[in-house]
Order: sequence, then C-alpha cells, then structure tokens
Amino acid sequence: MNTLSGKHILLGVTGGIAAYKSAELVRQLRRQGAEVRVVMTAAATGFVTPLTFQALSGQPVHTELLDADAESAMGHIELARWADVLLVAPATADFIARMVAGRADDLLSAVYLACDSRVAIAPAMNRVMWDNAATRDNIATLTGRGVQILGPDEGLQACGESGPGRMLEPGQLVDAVAELFNTGVLAGQHVLVTAGPTREALDPVRYISNRSSGRMGFAIAAAAAEAGAQVTLVSGPVNLPTPAGVQRLDVVSAADMHAAVMNQIAATSLFISVAAVADYRPATPSAQKIKKQAGEQSLQLVANPDILADVAALPNAPFTVGFAAETEQVIDHAREKLQAKHINMIAANVVGDQQGFDREDNALHVLWPGGEQALARASKTRLARQLLDLINRQFNSIAREGKVIPLHGKDSA
Ligand code: PMT
Repeated sequence: MNTLSGKHILLGVTGGIAAYKSAELVRQLRRQGAEVRVVMTAAATGFVTPLTFQALSGQPVHTELLDADAESAMGHIELARWADVLLVAPATADFIARMVAGRADDLLSAVYLACDSRVAIAPAMNRVMWDNAATRDNIATLTGRGVQILGPDEGLQACGESGPGRMLEPGQLVDAVAELFNTGVLAGQHVLVTAGPTREALDPVRYISNRSSGRMGFAIAAAAAEAGAQVTLVSGPVNLPTPAGVQRLDVVSAADMHAAVMNQIAATSLFISVAAVADYRPATPSAQKIKKQAGEQSLQLVANPDILADVAALPNAPFTVGFAAETEQVIDHAREKLQAKHINMIAANVVGDQQGFDREDNALHVLWPGGEQALARASKTRLARQLLDLINRQFNSIAREGKVIPLHGKDSA
C-alpha cells in the first residue's frame, strides 16, 4: 500500500552540506504522491537556494518567522497544523540542540514547538560531533519525547573523515517516513466504517439525501488501514476513490446500508458509524416519475432503521463508535445519543454554515462514558488518526475489563 499518497510532509532543511540531498528527497516524496512544503533555516539557504525547493515542491518555501505575507497565509501555526509529518533533513547538531532547548526564535524551531504531528529528524554532521556526549544526550531527550531519529548512516563524510554522521539517502528516508504511518496499533482488528449520505427514493428519478461528501468516513477507513486493521467501508453514493487497502461496499439507501452492515458485523471488532444516514424515507416511493400537480403536495415519511443502535444492541456487539452531527447544543445532544444508543464512544461535530459536511477540515468533541476530549480543527485525515488513537486507548481499556469481545473471541465462539 502506498502510505504516502496524499500525505502532508513538512520538510525542515537546516544548514548542512547534506541539504543538497534534500532536493532529491522532495522529488521522491512527491513521486510517492505526498504533498511537500519546505521550511529552511537561514543557514540552509547558504547551501541550497529556496528557489530549488520551490521548483521541486511546487510550493512557496518558508524561511522567515516574522513574514507579513506568510503570517496571513501560512504562518508557523498553520504550517504545523498542515503537517502530517514534520521531517527535519538534514538536522544539524545545532538544530537538534535547539529542539531540545525548546527555542522558537526562527521559523523551523517555532514550527517544531507548535507541531503535534509525528516528528522525525535525519541527523547529519561530522562523526565526532555525532559522538559528542552533548549530541548523544540531546538525541536521547528527543527520542524520549517521541521524535523519530532516522539514521545517521556511516561512511565517507564531506569533511574527509569516515564514520557515523552521514544523512540517510533520500530513498531510505522516503521508506522511513512511509513507515511512520504504519503504526500497526489496530493489527488483527476488523474495522467496519460507514460513510457518506444515503439516498431515499421518492420515485425513479428523485430522492431525499444530505450534504455528506464521505470525506470524514473515508479518512477514518484510510487511517484504520494504515494502523494495520482489516477495513471494510460501507459507503453511500460519493465521489471519492477507495482508500488503499480498504474493501469497499457501495450502497444507496439506509435500508441497503443496514443490510450491508449486518452482513459484515459478525466479523467486526470495531464499528465506526460516520455515515449521515437518513432518519426517514418516503413511505411509498412511486414506481413511476411523480407528475406535477396543481396545489400543495405532502409527503409521508416512515422511520429508517437506526443502524448504529441496532449494532450496539447485538448480544456480542463490537466496540461501537457513533458520530453526532449537530447545529446547536452539540455536546449535550451528543451525550444524549451516546446514552440513548448505548454506544462506547461518540464524536460530535458542528454541521451547517459551511462546517462539517463537504469540507477538507473538521473539529470533533469526543465523548465516552466517564471521559471526553476535544480534537481541534484539522484536516479530516489528521482528525481521523487522532480519533483512532482515542478509540484504540478506550477500546483496549474496555477489552481489559472484558466488556467487549476481541475478535479472536468471536472467531472461537
Ligand atoms: O461526509 P463529510 O462531508 O466528510 O461530513 C462528515 C459528517 C458531518 C457526515 C460526519 O462527521 C458526521 O457527523 N456523521 C454523522 C452524521 C449523522 O447522521 O449524525 P446523526 O447525529 O444524525 O446520527 C447519529 C449517529 O447515528 C451517526 O453515527 C449515524 O451514522 C448513526 N445513524 C443515524 C441514523 C440512522 N438511521 N442510522 C444510523 O446509524
């Protein structure tokens, strides 16, 4: 599976001779389908010009912390939020020390401090500098903070010496960055996700539906596949490509979606109901196109099955996560749904007024019995990963208490 496709890689380039290799790195990352933006330190611009990275990334290169143009478009906070991964390559001994110290007096240091995504560095320096106790301690500190250290390699160095301290080759860094997305935390799990709208037919040419694009559900399916799960995605009518490694079942109506979900549920350990399922459908859809008639018309609706509630009510229900799409009193309404549908977790979002539906970003407030957490506005891709981290933590704590049956338990039942 190409895990880099569509990923946002923020490349930090610091002032070392290996900066020339980072130009090739940008090219290779983009060839894998990643979107790349580049932040350079002042020292880095002495080795390679920003224009080189601009041409290769197809994006403006960011160099200044206080840049009026950049602040109004993509300042350090926006850059940090945009990134799925911050990769600093090459990372000099000085920049590593600045990361440890928590400095924020240049753009790249400030981006690092503001970044809550994955961070990786590719150290590049003279072998004696790499072996210095100060650098060793700094690397240990960053490792303890969750920063991934990629390399360095051993071999002939620009200074003429030979030993550890060479930056990894671009191809090795591309593989290592792709690996950062393969967390494996859901390995062995069967995840069933619903996404998109449903369409409830009035007649052969008209239907009732809603504004769901499917993006949130597809992002969750993709993130679950990245996390090592076997993923089935039951999707209403949307215009999105199937995420890599995901089995997709297309449906149209709420009744179709209900049937498809129930068909898969016995093998499911985690059910995430992201679809905007129509609560009602026309009572008697017409077999022929309804003709225009004089005067007012009324439409009789009947309730659709509630897929989420039906899954949660099963005797061996999987860990069940719902969404709540609300226009007001978001958290209160979500809490009511959490309790009424007897589910394990609910992710609430505001919809309408250009929020939630059919956008690239979203913000969630996640609730579970005895806890809650807000997930700040971010791309749906990022939010999906954060939500899965929360689900995974809660899923494991409930499984430990024996309140959900892990998949192997179902298989042997
Ligand atoms: O698709 P996007 O454009 O990316 O937009 C994302 C989203 C706004 C659709 C998504 O984030 C979201 O909020 N999905 C849930 C939409 C919804 O129908 O919410 P609800 O509050 O009406 O339903 C509560 C829960 O019950 C949901 O998990 C829903 O999937 C489920 N449900 C509802 C009705 C029904 N008949 N069956 C259900 O399973």
